[in-house]
Amino acid sequence: MVAPLIVINCKTYASASGMAAEALAVQMQSVDTSARLVMAASALDIGPIASSAPDLEVWAQHLDPVGHGSNTGRILPSTAIERGATGTLANHAERKVPLGQVDELLAILPPGFELCACAADPKEAEALAHLAPPMIAVEPPQLIGGDISVTTADPSIVSDSVEIVKKIDSGIEVLCGAGVKNGADVEAALELGASGVLLASGVTKATDPKAVLNDLVSRI
Ligand code: G3P
Repeated sequence: MVAPLIVINCKTYASASGMAAEALAVQMQSVDTSARLVMAASALDIGPIASSAPDLEVWAQHLDPVGHGSNTGRILPSTAIERGATGTLANHAERKVPLGQVDELLAILPPGFELCACAADPKEAEALAHLAPPMIAVEPPQLIGGDISVTTADPSIVSDSVEIVKKIDSGIEVLCGAGVKNGADVEAALELGASGVLLASGVTKATDPKAVLNDLVSRI
């Protein structure tokens, strides 16, 4: 069985940007667990995080499907990789892109590089599954940043997404997110067929992030 995945999206939270991102990465690296912990960091923080917490998986929050050249302001995948990124989110609810852009990105990423494409609902998950990304995370936008986990508010969004995606490509891992806060939410996600969770505020707004991280992995 593959290790359950817990992806912490730093977004631009103060507690998870710049020097604080490095400190959080060190805390994440010190969690004793069989789960796979990943930090999705600002592109600016990938290099420093890779240096401060070399054993922690660090992903970008967004990459652009570009190569070297005249692409002002874009985030170049090859540089993210050179700086230590081993994966990326794509099409996050707060950084939507056209479907074709996810496809273009998949085409230029090296084998083994993770891409977790985000979907608002099972329908979008289905469309993304046809592009065969390694992972799809379903996150209803209205629950993002809230206190109720998607696994409680609308468990069928998770189970339906898993079913639809696996029917198209059983190799795609399905995550869920929005409002995930604790170990019980992670356990519920796994019971609904997800391979893990994608979360932000549960950790980034916590007064004791290490305690939350320990709780998140407590039932795995
Ligand atoms: O990418 C994770 C995210 O959008 C969910 O955010 O704060 O509800 O855990 P949050």
